[in-house]
Amino acid sequence: MSTQASALSKIESALASDVREGLLRPGQKELPSTWLYDDLGSALFEAITCLPEYGLTRAEERILQSHSEAIAAEVWHPSLVVELGSGGGRKTSHILRAIGLHQPALLYCPIDVSAAALRACERELAQFAEVRPVEASYLEGLAIASRWRSPGQEMMVLFLGSTIGNFDRARAVDFLTVVGSQMSTGDSLLLGADLVKPVERLLLAYDDPTGVTAAFNRNLLGRINKELGADFDLRLFEHEARYNSEAQRVEMHLRAKVAHTVSIPSAEFAVSFDQGETIWTESCHKYRIEELDQMARTCGFRPAARWVDADWPFAEMLWIRC
Ligand code: AVJ
Repeated sequence: MSTQASALSKIESALASDVREGLLRPGQKELPSTWLYDDLGSALFEAITCLPEYGLTRAEERILQSHSEAIAAEVWHPSLVVELGSGGGRKTSHILRAIGLHQPALLYCPIDVSAAALRACERELAQFAEVRPVEASYLEGLAIASRWRSPGQEMMVLFLGSTIGNFDRARAVDFLTVVGSQMSTGDSLLLGADLVKPVERLLLAYDDPTGVTAAFNRNLLGRINKELGADFDLRLFEHEARYNSEAQRVEMHLRAKVAHTVSIPSAEFAVSFDQGETIWTESCHKYRIEELDQMARTCGFRPAARWVDADWPFAEMLWIRC
């Protein structure tokens, strides 16, 4: 297949412009973390969630497994559950089962940019609700899905797994405010956020000895090769996880081991790397509970309930739209 000869799809041209903008800017090169999650990237992330060093997903699963009934008791009877970033759907089953006990006609709309993740999710969750997947970005998908509820019916939005941690703090507030603007008074948002914890524990979680996170990170370059015809040599980049204590976040980078140039035909440019230069590929912000409660109010919600895992500090929060 000749990538150059064929026109770029909508998603490929969005990738091309982000790659061009992020790699040609002066100073720190950067690529938006959403591009990590193509089919292979989403599969590698699923593998990350199985790593002994990465406790985040299991912590959330423990919470949802033990407390879904309590969560369902906090909301009225939502007939529509919309999930931003469905992933594989495993942990959502607990919630849908609990909500479904009170609401037999439940519609569940997972929103994801990975078609493979949506298919997995549909397979996994069809027994608990009518599943109507939406392949779109979160806000586009939410705008579509929120129209599918009948007047007077309640909507519950799920934003699990600390995906909110990918946004920097100011953008998280902006994003959740926009999410809230698509919701009605009394609708609920179930939000999972990873909490601040010792740095050594965090760095192991994001730089695991098995090398899965490194593969997940490098796949971003593989994706750019595949979709934009670039010639990144993945072996020339090493994975790096850093803790930025001022911003309270883990930052993932890809570091060029040697000086070299990469060409990206479909985005019509070439880019040089100095030895040791990095591309910043993801940020994973860590929160304090009080900060999250404050954030709820700033974004137009009332923090109604929260559950925190004892082994891996992680908070599942139920916010009600004011
Ligand atoms: C999917 C954004 C929650 O921040 O922990 C895991 C992504 N990156 N290991 C996280 C991730 C590397 C993950 N989130």
